[in-house]
Amino acid sequence: MRRMVREVRLAPADFVYPIFVTRDQPGPIEGMPGVTRLTVEGAVKAANEATAAGLSGVLLFGIPQSKDETGTRALSPTGIIPEAVRAIKRCRLDLVIITDVCLCSYTTHGHCGLIRNKVLSNDATLPVLAQMARVHADSGADIVAPSAMMDHQVGAIRNELDAAGHQEVAILSYSAKYASAFYGPFRNAAGGAPQFGDRRMHQMDPCNAREALREIEMDLEEGADLIMVKPALAYLDVIRRIHDQWPQVPLFAYNVSGEYAMLKAAVQHGYAEERPAVLEVLGSIRRAGAQGIITYHALDAARWLSTQPPT
Ligand code: PBG
Repeated sequence: MRRMVREVRLAPADFVYPIFVTRDQPGPIEGMPGVTRLTVEGAVKAANEATAAGLSGVLLFGIPQSKDETGTRALSPTGIIPEAVRAIKRCRLDLVIITDVCLCSYTTHGHCGLIRNKVLSNDATLPVLAQMARVHADSGADIVAPSAMMDHQVGAIRNELDAAGHQEVAILSYSAKYASAFYGPFRNAAGGAPQFGDRRMHQMDPCNAREALREIEMDLEEGADLIMVKPALAYLDVIRRIHDQWPQVPLFAYNVSGEYAMLKAAVQHGYAEERPAVLEVLGSIRRAGAQGIITYHALDAARWLSTQPPT
């Protein structure tokens, strides 16, 4: 009877699986047991596993072979992400390929865009993000996901994609992205920690919720097709408010690396049981109003849901 009256259900199709792709540094990621940096070949295998598990999509992050001041490699048509996208596309999977659009893994200083006079320049960064998105779309990405939190990045990317004939490529905007302490393991994975300063200039203040509504509003006006709140767990109220205000817009939440690390660490210490803890967390994000969840637990959760659904 519990199952009969359950308000939200979890299904493998709710999940998007993040994948880190590298040419020369495959291997485990500190703080994220079970997640590895993969070669293109490994990413293709993971995409096939994701499809077999019934997931909706994969979100690709690139780790370039070298970085520079302006993140030149992020714009290369032969870069790691275009190569990975083309390789996955060749498998003709029933799986959406999403690419992260941000410069932080590609710049020596680790900031999300171009630095002018020692500060991150919002406006100088816009054309670079737009070009990065176009290169991803050229290689076959179905959705581009700008995560740099530059104002007007969605509009700049939409214009560039449309001008390049990619009207059908959708934009999943990391609209409400907080300056969070929960991105640590990701920065180990992708090597994108800022070398000076922090991201508080452009990422949101954790104490603000109304500001998130403003960010979403701007992104929707500029043409975002899907929107996102990130991280998920400390921001369930924000997810709820956005869902209530724009019930017609697909809303995603990113269950980030630090949230994954925290749960895995508790499990490793014997303080929590993994399967029920993960499904409880993912269920809470769906209950708050997110229809999709980007999560490193995706493959495990999909397996648990198909072999032994919650009672
Ligand atoms: C890039 C980006 C980050 C994450 C996703 N895209 C790091 C950051 O903003 O510092 C974090 C994802 C995670 O922690 O799992 N800007």
